[in-house]
Amino acid sequence: MCGIVGYVGYREAQPILVNCLKRLEYRGYDSCGLALLGEGIEVYKDAVRIEALEKALRPNVSKTGIGHTRWATHGKPSQVNAHPHTDCSGQVAVVHNGVIENFLQLKEQLIEEGHTFRSDTDTEVIPHLIEKYYQDSLEKAVARAIVDLTGSYAFAAIHAGRNELVVARKESPLILGIGDKEHFVASDVPAVLDYTDRVVYLEDGDIGVITADKVTYISNGKEIERAEHRIPWSVAEAQKAGYEHFMIKEIHEQPRVIRETYKGYISAIEPVTNLGIEKDTSITDILIVACGTSYYASLVGKHLIQSLAQIPVRVEIASEFNYSDTVLGKTWFIVITQSGETADSIRALRKAKESGCRTLAITNVVGSSATRIADETLYIKAGPEICVAATKSFIAQLTMFYLIALARASRDVRSRAGMILELRQLPNKVQEMLDREEEIAKYGKYLAKYENVFFVGRGLNFPIALEGALKLKEISYIHAEGYPAGELKHGPFALLTPNTPVIAIVTKDNTYDTLLANIKEIKARESPVIAIAGESDEEIKKYVDFVIKVPDVDPVFSPVINAVALQLLAYYTARERGCSIDTPRNLAKSVTVE
Ligand code: AGP
Repeated sequence: MCGIVGYVGYREAQPILVNCLKRLEYRGYDSCGLALLGEGIEVYKDAVRIEALEKALRPNVSKTGIGHTRWATHGKPSQVNAHPHTDCSGQVAVVHNGVIENFLQLKEQLIEEGHTFRSDTDTEVIPHLIEKYYQDSLEKAVARAIVDLTGSYAFAAIHAGRNELVVARKESPLILGIGDKEHFVASDVPAVLDYTDRVVYLEDGDIGVITADKVTYISNGKEIERAEHRIPWSVAEAQKAGYEHFMIKEIHEQPRVIRETYKGYISAIEPVTNLGIEKDTSITDILIVACGTSYYASLVGKHLIQSLAQIPVRVEIASEFNYSDTVLGKTWFIVITQSGETADSIRALRKAKESGCRTLAITNVVGSSATRIADETLYIKAGPEICVAATKSFIAQLTMFYLIALARASRDVRSRAGMILELRQLPNKVQEMLDREEEIAKYGKYLAKYENVFFVGRGLNFPIALEGALKLKEISYIHAEGYPAGELKHGPFALLTPNTPVIAIVTKDNTYDTLLANIKEIKARESPVIAIAGESDEEIKKYVDFVIKVPDVDPVFSPVINAVALQLLAYYTARERGCSIDTPRNLAKSVTVE
């Protein structure tokens, strides 16, 4: 998820483009760039934040330009991989958001035809295709170029000597800001709100030809009309797409994030995986190392890989692993880190690498330190996660573990196929869970008055109890502990009182009956119990004070649904307590010190 912008009008484009990009940095910030139309095209770009690029800009009076702020997917953050990308002659410049899936084939073909490529990005094929098809109309060249593209894109192009922007959209968002004798292009509304509240949303397949005075919309080669909308939001509101906090916005992004993360790894036609490890017999045992929420995702991963693939898995906290004598041997070492920069995890990765382990990094950030050290990298596709408390990255990490476990699953083809189909349904089930937000908000109000809360779960959902407790701690400042339900009687029972609510994750799997028994023990100590249970579970309400009903799924997938319910519970509890949810005290999004 990157941010693209464009301007054509009567004012100097450079300061406007810089400001628009600053408004879109929540979409990606590992590199950025501008292209301004003058005699030719002047390009400024580097692997820096927009503030730093701004300092390097020379005065430029151009009234037309495009800009980009990047969240790398193909090609690590670097000056050459930053956008805009140009064609061989530098006559065409393009900024793009999305993924061109067939870029490798197109690149080979264009190189055979004599084009020279400079970057590792998928995007660079676009200016070269425009160059290939350009005669005297940028609009026609763009229309011909997009015929060759497969994947998702929203891009803006300029051509030397033509005072216009030409944009095209398929799957990735693209809006136009309508001004008086000026027009703006952007990936999202926040970019233009300092200048206009009149916007047009382009549809899939649309091309827009934009000059200072006029916008022409073209679809399937025909001129069409597009409706104008007035935006009632402030910039801050718009950056959160109307949500009050980035956290709740990111929680609502999870159905898309699951789809994005398994896209390309499970085929759309047959229920099979293609992670590249399916037949790799050298994987005999696995050690996963991580911190915080990523560590809890690893604990779920251990369960899944051991139960579905029968491969022994150890999981260790990175800061402990770094000072331990863990025997590594020929183990497959996996580090999980959303940011790819967490110091303890990076040190653990280096330690494993130095001891000769084959290493894999599972991360959300292309080009991050973890990707540069590990032998292999698998990317979760959560997009930029702004809120310090990890939510969508956790669900994306779980999705990756389902993919790894299913890739090595030693189940019969039919049940394996069934699970892959259930994984494909998971985004819809998560959406059903999100649709119950209001219901959960009530329990946030209830929980907000307590200072100590316990979370319990068993099996696959014990780590979810840990994650639920961490989320509540991080953003509401309530002291919360996650426990295996069977462990309470070995000590924590001493803390249970009518003032220590217990959140019990009650999934209908082989732990159900024992967990009910644990709930009776908890109730005997007069602690209020809130159960997280499947909607078809009519039994549970007899044993607890409140039931948060979640959509029914195969118990193997219950950690995802239960985690989303606990994210919402933590969010609404913190909101009721008036906490600064996106930037909690004493915490950082990426912990780069040991
Ligand atoms: C989670 O909400 C926290 N932000 C924190 O525990 C985080 O998971 C931990 O610091 C690990 O970060 P990483 O995944 O970027 O390595």
